[in-house]
Amino acid sequence: MFWRFSQIQRRATEKESLDPSQNGVVHPIKLRSFVALAMDIASASPRRYFFEVMSFYATAEHEKEKLQHFASPEGRDDLYQYNQKERRTVLEVLEDFPSVQMPFEWLVQLVPPLKKRAFSISSSPLAHPNQVHLTVNIVSWTTPFKRKRHGLCSTWLVALDPQESRGVVIPSWIHRGCLPPPPPSLPLILIGPGTGCAPFRAFIEQRAVQNTKGPTSPVLFFFGCRSQESDFLYEHFWLSHSQNHGVLSKEKGGGFFVAFSRDQPKKIYVQHKIREESARIWRLLNAGAAIYIAGSSTKMPTDVTSAVEDVIVKESGMSKESASRWLRALEKAGRFNTEAWS
Ligand SMILES: Cc1cc2nc3c(=O)[nH]c(=O)nc-3n(C[C@H](O)[C@H](O)[C@H](O)COP(=O)(O)OP(=O)(O)OC[C@H]3O[C@@H](n4cnc5c(N)ncnc54)[C@H](O)[C@@H]3O)c2cc1C
Ligand SMILES: NC(=O)c1ccc[n+]([C@@H]2O[C@H](COP(=O)([O-])OP(=O)(O)OC[C@H]3O[C@@H](n4cnc5c(N)ncnc54)[C@H](OP(=O)(O)O)[C@@H]3O)[C@@H](O)[C@H]2O)c1
Repeated sequence: MFWRFSQIQRRATEKESLDPSQNGVVHPIKLRSFVALAMDIASASPRRYFFEVMSFYATAEHEKEKLQHFASPEGRDDLYQYNQKERRTVLEVLEDFPSVQMPFEWLVQLVPPLKKRAFSISSSPLAHPNQVHLTVNIVSWTTPFKRKRHGLCSTWLVALDPQESRGVVIPSWIHRGCLPPPPPSLPLILIGPGTGCAPFRAFIEQRAVQNTKGPTSPVLFFFGCRSQESDFLYEHFWLSHSQNHGVLSKEKGGGFFVAFSRDQPKKIYVQHKIREESARIWRLLNAGAAIYIAGSSTKMPTDVTSAVEDVIVKESGMSKESASRWLRALEKAGRFNTEAWS
């Protein structure tokens, strides 16, 4: 399925356009291309109403009965177990009920549109003019029924062969994110575990170029990953900027701190490193530093914010409530920025 998707994408983007007004000319699009490019048949789970409509078009009696059950209030729990919990896709559901001959007009209305995926730009425009680097985690997980699932976009991207895929056009847009680009004079405290390091690779590259042209302010970067062996992303990059007067070097007032969560029996996270470096963090905050947090939106941003509050409490003697207010004021002043995703 994913291979076909990429093939369709390639043909479609070369010859056709989904934007009917492009250059004022209406471009026809093949039905296959429309399904592949505009309809989310391979990642979103269908809603209850989809099952109701399917039941009308099922010709096999046992399928019709099952679909009617799923669409009924009594079948709500069974539908949850079969559909949402397993994150079954439209395509999989249609394959499970082969007697259903749903007219395309219905499919177009019921299938959600394919949604865009956002990726933080992880390269600096000064270091790599005319290029955009991304740091993409290949999403995969196992469902409660032990079915292996793969993220649609990340799996498609990783399947592109740089040689073989030469000329493939990836439809993309650039949006302003939640992390304002910092001027070279702004001291920085960056916290980006996992793929959260993506925007900070760009910040550090940018500052390294700025550093060759004039003075720049210090940068502390806190990175976290599972183990030094398996997922220490851009290891050489961080370490080289931590040496020889690089932007993360001690000589420059900077620092690079890494937490390997699974290299020992007890988890170590970026928060532990933040608390260990409380004096340096507080000094830099008093010198006008901005805090940037990026990465997983589950618990990480809250836990990291709490660790920063602990630093303020320890170093300033404020209460936790005052520290929290202090951080909110920092946020209002544009000096506490978070970009998180799940
Ligand atoms: C502002 C922003 C910046 C981002 N930057 C980056 C970045 O730099 N790098 C990066 O890799 N990603 C980034 N993301 C996330 C990215 O946009 C995609 O969400 C991600 O790549 C997954 O897309 P996909 O199509 O591969 O997966 P999808 O097909 O969309 O599947 C992902 C969905 O699967 C489900 N899922 C995933 N894991 C599990 C699990 N363990 N159990 C149950 N369900 C699960 C969840 O519902 C999840 O939303 C960013 C997101 C935002 C909003
Ligand atoms: N199979 C692999 O080897 C592998 C490696 C990396 C990523 N992935 C996949 O990638 C997805 C996201 O990847 P990612 O790189 O963005 O992030 P991630 O690998 O899930 O997390 C990055 C680091 O943050 C840690 N962490 C977890 N909860 C935290 C918290 N509350 N506060 C601070 N740190 C916390 C993680 O530790 P713990 O996870 O140890 O708790 C890990 O060390 C994961 O859901 C996973 O499916 C897989």
